[in-house]
Amino acid sequence: MRAAPIGVFDSGVGGLTVLRALQRRLPGESFIYLGDTARLPYGTKSARTVERYALRATALLVGTGVKAIVVACNTASAVALPALRAAHTGLPVFGVVGPGARAAVRASASGRIGVIATESTVRGGAYARAILAAHPAARVHARACPLLVALAEEGWVDGPIAEAVVGEYLRPWLPDGEGTAAPDCVVLGCTHFPLFAPAIERVTHGRLALVDSAATTAAEVAASLAEAGALAALAQPARRLLATDDVDRFARVGGRFLGVPVAAGDVELVDL
Ligand code: DGL
Repeated sequence: MRAAPIGVFDSGVGGLTVLRALQRRLPGESFIYLGDTARLPYGTKSARTVERYALRATALLVGTGVKAIVVACNTASAVALPALRAAHTGLPVFGVVGPGARAAVRASASGRIGVIATESTVRGGAYARAILAAHPAARVHARACPLLVALAEEGWVDGPIAEAVVGEYLRPWLPDGEGTAAPDCVVLGCTHFPLFAPAIERVTHGRLALVDSAATTAAEVAASLAEAGALAALAQPARRLLATDDVDRFARVGGRFLGVPVAAGDVELVDL
């Protein structure tokens, strides 16, 4: 069981930012990543629909014999984690919202914390609940930024268009917006948003600390598997990439998120 892969799941390619952090943190582990590109985006769908999709995706991963599941999608973590844990008792199921919320509490000096995410994630309030659980006096400002998902998929994460959209979304948190009540840190609460870190830094003149939950999630997964004696130290770990739609597009766009080129031949088409 120790040598079994860790299953990682996202609505599409964005979760490859989390896979990248996991591979860096756990170099002796094998991974199997599923991007449910046929049903992307999850972020505009109802909680019931996202839960249904997430249950199907994790069932496929569990069927391959994984030893743990990482829900590398903020929207699915925000609305489907209890259902996924109930469906797979006995298997650790990790989300990205809890680690991101705890990292934000550590990063914020004022306790005023901004969250940018998809519509579904913001509507469900999971980040606010997780932040308040770690810091009951915190003030959480959440903002849905759906356009950023499309821009990231298009590769427009820098330059005037990206900065104009980021500026529009974050304007209330700039010095001439909510002023002293503005947050001092912002959680990048969507898998696609870490790619905008340089544009956000420029637009906000570096006055917001940026919290990316990928590294924190990887650290929590590593600690939990170590505690359970379930860590592997494989000399030649494997990495499988699965997608539910067009493997060419997955490879082309996915490379940007994984940080290394992905060949279409490396991606397996699966049906849910
Ligand atoms: N993976 C989703 C998230 O992190 C973003 C893309 C989508 O809407 O499906 O919320």
